[in-house]
Amino acid sequence: MRSLIDIAELSLDEIDSLLATANDIIDNPEKYSEKCKGKKLATLFFEPSTRTRLSFEAAMYELGGNVLGFSEATSSSTAKGESVADTAKTVSCYADIIAMRHPKEGAPLVASMNASIPVINAGDGGHNHPTQTLADLLTIKREKGGFDNLTVGLCGDLKFGRTVHSLINALRRYNNVKFVLISPNELKLPDYIKESLKKDNFEVFETTDLEAAMPKLDILYMTRVQRERFFNEEEYLRLKDSYILTPEKLKNAKSDLSILHPLPRVNEISVAIDDDPRACYFKQVLNGKYMRMALILMLLGVK
Ligand code: CP
Repeated sequence: MRSLIDIAELSLDEIDSLLATANDIIDNPEKYSEKCKGKKLATLFFEPSTRTRLSFEAAMYELGGNVLGFSEATSSSTAKGESVADTAKTVSCYADIIAMRHPKEGAPLVASMNASIPVINAGDGGHNHPTQTLADLLTIKREKGGFDNLTVGLCGDLKFGRTVHSLINALRRYNNVKFVLISPNELKLPDYIKESLKKDNFEVFETTDLEAAMPKLDILYMTRVQRERFFNEEEYLRLKDSYILTPEKLKNAKSDLSILHPLPRVNEISVAIDDDPRACYFKQVLNGKYMRMALILMLLGVK
């Protein structure tokens, strides 16, 4: 039995296989419509979500399976003090696979150690978000054809941004990827990730200036400054609008730049960009559903 807690648990061959399955689902959805008939996905969301929870649920329905679960901690027995371990053991009696989001780093790992069914990390605090990374990888693959030799700009909250941490962990396994880290000083990428990239001889360039970095980027991965990760509201208010991508700021960008964002966005991408052919963030939303379908099939061992 296999869970997915961290994107690094997937080999490059497995990622390739998931990408191929997702592309096949896009081309031949009817082939997959009964693959999970009789199977149940439990979505255990202890933190708010629109895309991840609903795309997991849509994925399971489109595979012919069913869904149960909860979308907030207060409607589960967590509110009465139940542990993550006991919740995982309990849900293992009702479902075939779990997707769990939790504000505490490591909670899905604890669940996977106690469940008797596969557990998928659907985002744990500021740590990891591997299925968002699968959505990001499918989007990059479809837009750019592959991952080697890309210059990837990551902009916004690189400190608490779990989607950024997971994406870096995935892209560092490809050849000659360059990372441009664009953030306010207070929200820089944690040193342990930066040092590990440098130790492996990656080109890493840190800046606070999005416009100066723009001309060299193949991918611009925008992120939200996350109010829920701050202990101090004043600091959040000071930093929240550090970067707002507008058409003006794209004037020196490559014509084939791909703009990604895990969403939700607040102010960091102007809606005036949504119709720009370089805006990929709503394609990314849809790609997330296909990659979650492919992942469910893989973890359930469905051919
Ligand atoms: N990208 C993402 O995780 O979105 P949600 O928080 O809406 O699930």
